[in-house]
Amino acid sequence: MSSLAVSIDIRSWTHQLDSLGRDLLNSQITALAWQDGMDDLYRNIDLGTLLRAIDFKHMINNSDFNFIDQGRTFTPVKFLPETGALENMVVEIRATKVPKGVSIFPHGHLNMVSGFVTLSGEFHFRQYDRLHLDENFFHIRLSSDHYSQPGQWNTQSEDKNNVHWFTAMTDDTYLFSTKLQRVDPNQYCASNMFVDINGKDLGDGVIQAERIDFDRAKELYG
Ligand SMILES: [Fe+2]
Repeated sequence: MSSLAVSIDIRSWTHQLDSLGRDLLNSQITALAWQDGMDDLYRNIDLGTLLRAIDFKHMINNSDFNFIDQGRTFTPVKFLPETGALENMVVEIRATKVPKGVSIFPHGHLNMVSGFVTLSGEFHFRQYDRLHLDENFFHIRLSSDHYSQPGQWNTQSEDKNNVHWFTAMTDDTYLFSTKLQRVDPNQYCASNMFVDINGKDLGDGVIQAERIDFDRAKELYG
């Protein structure tokens, strides 16, 4: 593929990504519509094009993208300027390496949406819909349990796949993230609400998952 083709694709793609995010922040679309839109965007971007646009070869030699803070912090990604990518998008674009056998602990989110692409390696992805939340528990139901290969993606919102748990199955496992926080600017936002997914069975596939702190999550899933 010529560099011009890459340039056109990424420029258009980042404009659509930003526009979709703005539509959500302006309440013009629902979170589910944002997830559907992200499905289309990820479906339409060729993995090789994306990897070249973010200079993935450089990323894998850049210690900034090493696993830090047990996956609670991803490192900002910049597109190569020659791609024509839109700058200053409302969407946070980040990535991290996850070492083989290591998990990003099961956690849910409040007032934020995100989408993840496996850039390389293989992840074991488990996702759960959140049916209820209170001071002590999530009520969740498994929505997806699969192995994510390079180029495959997942999204989460309050309404679908709110809780997720990733485990890196191979070496050189990298995850690319697009995230919007404070979807409702008047509501509290939380990125990492850890849960013990091995909770009480409430029937019909629903689990009463206890909310736990980071240290307890590390004991269980670290
Ligand atoms: Fe998350």
